[in-house]
Amino acid sequence: MTATTETALLLEAGSPGQGALVIGDGILDTVGEQMRRVGLGGRAFVVTDRRVAGVCGDAAVAALDRAGFRPALVAIEGGERTKSLAGAAELYSWLAGQRAERRDVVVALGGGVVGDLAGFVAATYLRGVALVQVPTNVLAQVDSSVGGKTAIDLPQGKNLVGAFHPARLTLIDVALLDALPRREFQSGWAEVIKTAIIFDAPLFEELERTRPQDMTRGQLLDVIARCVRWKLKIVKEDPTEQGPRRLLNFGHTIAHGLEAAAGYGTYLHGEAVAIGMVGACQISQRLGLVDQGLVDRVEGILRRNDLPVRYDPAVAGVEDILEAMGKDKKSENARIRWILTTGLGSTKIGDEVPPELAHEVVAGLAQQSTAQTEAVESHV
Ligand SMILES: NC(=O)c1ccc[n+]([C@@H]2O[C@H](COP(=O)([O-])OP(=O)(O)OC[C@H]3O[C@@H](n4cnc5c(N)ncnc54)[C@H](O)[C@@H]3O)[C@@H](O)[C@H]2O)c1
Ligand SMILES: [Zn+2]
Repeated sequence: MTATTETALLLEAGSPGQGALVIGDGILDTVGEQMRRVGLGGRAFVVTDRRVAGVCGDAAVAALDRAGFRPALVAIEGGERTKSLAGAAELYSWLAGQRAERRDVVVALGGGVVGDLAGFVAATYLRGVALVQVPTNVLAQVDSSVGGKTAIDLPQGKNLVGAFHPARLTLIDVALLDALPRREFQSGWAEVIKTAIIFDAPLFEELERTRPQDMTRGQLLDVIARCVRWKLKIVKEDPTEQGPRRLLNFGHTIAHGLEAAAGYGTYLHGEAVAIGMVGACQISQRLGLVDQGLVDRVEGILRRNDLPVRYDPAVAGVEDILEAMGKDKKSENARIRWILTTGLGSTKIGDEVPPELAHEVVAGLAQQSTAQTEAVESHV
């Protein structure tokens, strides 16, 4: 893979479901100029969380100030619990108190929680103000900041209230990833591996050869850009998730069930997705779509990236996971639509999975942590 270190403009503007998109190494300083370039004006209201504020809040505000956006910044507590009606209400009050106007801009600076919450507030405040996404972790850079989905959670479930509100600009600065705690980084990397399994066999092979910590920044930028390109392509084909965009949910059926059953935060999202991808591969294998070799390769790459491939039954019970999977809004007419692999880089939506098979596979993914350690050892 060739290294790219300059700012790359991946998308000029105007694609359904997504505004302009730039990616680079150390480009946060240019955010104000880039916003001017896509025609934004008014004031900039930066929404971030406390941790991210400490990493790059000042730099973002300075860059916006230099470009004349007269920025104001609010740092929310962060975490999934703040992606709520109460969290949105706080931001509406802040914007109203600041006298934010229709022509102003909300800048979401942070991970998926900040992006979804600030994005939803931007979609609804004054019937919609412009949104700029500046994703600061791997998950947000390759996934949540691209494609216009915004949402908040209700006590009854995740992402139950939301809107499609594409960012006028998404600015991805891979330099910001340096500040990420390792576990957060690895969790986001699960989505990178997911992208490779769904769409891109050569990328999967590249990821098998090189772990992110052994990559140069140029290589890292290339991998992130490649995932973003795939996401852009699928969003363009299916901006409102009626069809092929659902393929991005590979591994997410079990992951959502596991996250809900274990309690949010027990497994980070990407960790749950890692376990869910193993389950989806096993189901695909049992249906004769792929051979065991593929299941082993997927497990192998996840283990090498320190991601879990089994869940601890002391943390989540099989029946609870299955019940939560059934409640997930991605199931239609009580039938779960599985995303299945038909080989590296090729995926399909299938509703032919017998419930008994799903049950068996989910049960088989349960493993006490000590047993898991032994399994890891015997596997290598
Ligand atoms: N809209 C979409 O298309 C979409 C897609 C996937 C996920 N999501 C949503 O994303 C949310 C999860 O996002 P998340 O995992 O990013 O959670 P998050 O936003 O809470 O971020 C995780 C942690 O990373 C920290 N962090 C972020 N950038 C950092 C940096 N540069 N340095 C140090 N720490 C940093 C945050 O402070 C936080 O503690 C979920 O609510 C999910 O529903 C949305
Ligand atoms: Zn995900």
